[in-house]
Amino acid sequence: MTLRDKQIVVGVGGGIAAFKAVELVRELQRRGAKVRVVMTPSACRFVGPITMTGLTGQPAVTDLWDPKHPGEIHVELAHWAHAIVIAPATANLLARAAHGFADDAVLATLACAGCPVLMAPAMHERMWRAAANQRNVERLTQDGVRWAGPVQGALANGTTGMGRMAEPVQIADALEREAFAPPDLAKVRVLVSAGPTLEDIDPVRFISNRSSGRMGYALAAAARDRGASVTLVTGPTQLPLPAGVQTVQVRTALEMQQAIHNALRKTDVVIMTAAVADYRPAQAKTSKIKKQGETMSIELVKNPDILATLGAKRKGKRPVLVGFAMETNDVVAYGRKKLVQKKADLIVANEASVGFGRDDTQATLVGKRGDEALPPMSKRELAHRILDRVCGLL
Ligand code: CTP
Repeated sequence: MTLRDKQIVVGVGGGIAAFKAVELVRELQRRGAKVRVVMTPSACRFVGPITMTGLTGQPAVTDLWDPKHPGEIHVELAHWAHAIVIAPATANLLARAAHGFADDAVLATLACAGCPVLMAPAMHERMWRAAANQRNVERLTQDGVRWAGPVQGALANGTTGMGRMAEPVQIADALEREAFAPPDLAKVRVLVSAGPTLEDIDPVRFISNRSSGRMGYALAAAARDRGASVTLVTGPTQLPLPAGVQTVQVRTALEMQQAIHNALRKTDVVIMTAAVADYRPAQAKTSKIKKQGETMSIELVKNPDILATLGAKRKGKRPVLVGFAMETNDVVAYGRKKLVQKKADLIVANEASVGFGRDDTQATLVGKRGDEALPPMSKRELAHRILDRVCGLL
């Protein structure tokens, strides 16, 4: 993956992290990209457009009405761009982009974008976590925006928290990964299962687990970016559905098994990130169970092991199989046991304490030829590392 000769528009929002946009421009150029800069009026209060003009050799665009730019400069910029990076993406910029505003040069360029868009948010932790901001992030994700950060760290007011802009090198890495991933899965059909399953006890109660679905959704999006045709079979989650992926929403383990079975003939790789409930109530009651004695028990019956069922199929008759093993102890040993017992080609083993519900994780890839312990990384990055291995198994 390289940025050599890629044409990148850097859109700068009005936040203190705008000073790092200068270094980002340099970093992209170091990697061989051609860069043009567009700035909001408030970004110009933090860094001088002359600095950006000097670095890029092209006038930084700051005003849609500037007679220096004849014609529609935002259309021209968006047309020229192979990718657009917004850094810093402030809460205000995210809100306006989420609603399609086009009243300054950055937003108008974004509104015309026909290329991948990567945003590097930067704001105070409270602004990042605010319900309205999270809605905007979700909406932009649905529109296909990719993200670099924010990260945990020192914030402008001297406190520490989530909301710091990713470093320029990290943003450039994310751009390479997210916008210019190699098309090494072109023509490959990948099925990813994600999230928990819900097993009904009665019309108002169920058994489930704490799986957030993040790993599976990251894998589906990463496989899509590498050119695969992707089916995501997902249990109920709070996450926005990834764009450009065929999604089948299911509830129970049996429904998930059926959905996977239906898609299997047209599948080259199955990646089981789903936390499938191992057991379900023997009989889901049709009316609400009433409270009675001091104790109660519910009879459970075993759910099918979807991965093991696929692994039992004859070689050549089955897709490449990747499973996950979320453990609280002896992570790698249990991972290897699952590799053998379920006849998978690769098991991604990780510890429950670093995986559940978080954006980052740490895993060991357990394969037939040995283990690869990976450092802590985002789930999106881990997704790419897993797909690198999948490429070698095809
Ligand atoms: N899996 C599956 N069907 C099940 C249970 C698990 O396909 N009924 C898959 C998961 O999606 C995962 C792998 O098997 O890829 C391992 O799941 P895990 O829950 O860690 O293993 P279990 O076999 O359920 O073993 P245990 O819960 O005893 O650790």
